[in-house]
Amino acid sequence: MIKDSFDRVHDYLRISLTDNCNLRCFYCMPEDDYDFAPAARLMQTAEIEKISRLFVEEGVKKIRLTGGEPLVRRDAARILELLGSLPVELVMTTNGTRLHEFLSVFKSANIRTINISLDTLQPDKFMLVTRRNLFHQVRSNIELLLQHDFLVKINMVVMKGFNDEEINDFISWTTHIPVQIRFIEFMPFSGNHWRNDKVFSMDEILEKIGKQYEFLPVKGGANDTAKHFMIPGHAGSFAVISTMSAPFCSSCNRMRLTADGKLKNCLFSAAETDLLSALRKGEDILPLIHQTMREKAKQLGGQFSGTFEMLDAAKIQNRSMITIGG
Ligand code: GTP
Ligand code: 5AD
Ligand code: SF4
Repeated sequence: MIKDSFDRVHDYLRISLTDNCNLRCFYCMPEDDYDFAPAARLMQTAEIEKISRLFVEEGVKKIRLTGGEPLVRRDAARILELLGSLPVELVMTTNGTRLHEFLSVFKSANIRTINISLDTLQPDKFMLVTRRNLFHQVRSNIELLLQHDFLVKINMVVMKGFNDEEINDFISWTTHIPVQIRFIEFMPFSGNHWRNDKVFSMDEILEKIGKQYEFLPVKGGANDTAKHFMIPGHAGSFAVISTMSAPFCSSCNRMRLTADGKLKNCLFSAAETDLLSALRKGEDILPLIHQTMREKAKQLGGQFSGTFEMLDAAKIQNRSMITIGG
């Protein structure tokens, strides 16, 4: 069992398969020249399997594959098949552009739930966010997953003045379609031009929805990032991920492995532990894992607290989102 010094059990591992992506979302990628890591620096398929097995033996029950975009990795299908044979719940967060190529692999790897990033329902705005003309591909892939009975969660990062006016369009989508929309407060990462006044907080999100819909809170899972709500009569539901205004660190069970094999004990940890280099030298990485997790800060990597209005993002030491994977 992997525990930190606050007695939090860590049984959910997020593995980034690549820092590469076929989209260019402005809030995720640094604006300056960005070189994707060369393939040799990334964990190879067998290394991902070996490290994952070790985590599973230590009690990990859920593995989420992330990126960049996990499905642009050439051997993604093989990795899914290998991890699908482990006794864990295997899930994925993706930008949705390539899902149609992987439907049968998802089924054989026992993947039932897919989280898809989609910040706007307007094709021209999608182009502004991602700089790629793939809106219709993502929309049709969402339909495809629903037709095949996958559970689909939509991640919408809300940015004030950019897409907050679309919140109720997303809610309207849930009237007849069984998707779960997750409105996410905009978070600061290296190079993403975060500003306090771009955060559209959970209170503001709920207030906007409340003007048009009556909704009720729903009890979620013990370690959920999201606070859940339902609207009576709607086929789908919505949730809010309130990292900036109401952090949920006290129930955190998450660890992150970057594509280059570094273990981060928190999304906002400045420190990282190089598991891959140790593994390649033939060292036992188990003590490194336990030590890294024991060092986990109580909240938000020890770098800030829940008062984002006063936060100076320049002081946060971290990677860019595309190299963490969310
Ligand atoms: P479920 O397992 O389906 O609940 O998904 P998830 O919320 O754990 O994962 P997903 O990749 O869909 O992430 C959705 C949002 O939650 C992203 O903005 C993530 O950065 C954020 N998120 C995920 N894990 C953490 C975490 O440990 N701390 C914080 N603050 N945010 C997180
Ligand atoms: N703030 C909040 N969420 C973000 N994501 C990416 N960048 C940010 C950010 N700056 C979300 C995306 C993706 C998930 C892994 O992280 O919506 O679905
Ligand atoms: Fe790519 Fe996802 Fe980052 Fe957008 S948010 S650039 S889709 S990894």
